[in-house]
Amino acid sequence: MTTKPDRNLALELVRATEAAAIAAGRWMGRNNKEAGDQAAVDAMRQLLDTVDMDGVVVIGEGEKDEAPMLFNGEEVGSGNGPQTDIAVDPIDGTRLLAQGRPGSLAVLAMAPRGTMFNPGPMVYMNKWIVGADAKGAVDIDAPIKDNLARIAKAKGKAVNDLTVMMLDRDRHAGMAQDVRDAGARLRLIMDGDVAGGLLAAMPDKAVDVLIGIGGTPEGVTTACAIRALDGEMLGRLWARNDEETVAANEQGYDLDEVLTTERLVSSQDTFFVCTGVTTGDLVPGVNYTGSGVTTDSLCMRGKSGTVRYIRAIHTVEKLRELGAEGA
Ligand code: FBP
Repeated sequence: MTTKPDRNLALELVRATEAAAIAAGRWMGRNNKEAGDQAAVDAMRQLLDTVDMDGVVVIGEGEKDEAPMLFNGEEVGSGNGPQTDIAVDPIDGTRLLAQGRPGSLAVLAMAPRGTMFNPGPMVYMNKWIVGADAKGAVDIDAPIKDNLARIAKAKGKAVNDLTVMMLDRDRHAGMAQDVRDAGARLRLIMDGDVAGGLLAAMPDKAVDVLIGIGGTPEGVTTACAIRALDGEMLGRLWARNDEETVAANEQGYDLDEVLTTERLVSSQDTFFVCTGVTTGDLVPGVNYTGSGVTTDSLCMRGKSGTVRYIRAIHTVEKLRELGAEGA
């Protein structure tokens, strides 16, 4: 007896990131982070309810009083279909978009209800992300030099062939120096460690490992993609100050715990979608053609490991529908 394959919800979710990217893309280089993000949130919210699922936003735009839409705890979807956890990052790289720089994305991830790690009060985590070929090579407690040597060995290259990606932050000064001292190549990015993590985990991209402290919500979202890519993500919550340490301890978080991909999302049944807003290494950005608009997206499914690139050509009507027809 054959069983019919079940639905790949990523193919429905991608309409929401496409809509977010189309609406937000109008704000490229206009120096208004909030407006770009808001446009993405509004468009994404509108489309999410058309997806057949009973979703709850667990990684969202914040609490209800500060985020009118896509707040933590908000129910999304038609209410029919699977019960799911939803992680939204309507724009990862709001500053990149506002400044007209490469690499901003509209991002959405989904997993069965109760399977996504709840970061609670913890805003930041340390992250190591590698692809399938370097799975098992990283020991988060080992010096950077040793980890890079092991990753290089697993990949069959020399350490000085490795490209390490890292957010350009003062807090990373020591880590960046360690990478240089080890002899690896270092690529610093202004923002967007979701894209950075994907680049590190995808076999055909010119990044071997992402290292550094970035957002915890972005970490959980990225883990949904790492599942599909069969890569590895290791992390550890990072407190900025004593207050955060106390809050974390009070709420039962162990700041020493190694957060594996499996801990960050405990199911293999994940979906991850992203659409380029400004062109980056991962996907091209939104292109308004006059007769419509094109978008480029990535759709991933944990269960099957399928990764799809989707180019969509949308009509002017679509732009109108989203209020994104331009000046
Ligand atoms: P936003 O677009 O939501 O501001 O996030 C951009 C980003 O670079 C993330 O990719 C990253 O995880 C986080 O910010 C790092 O935080 P910070 O900018 O505070 O170092």
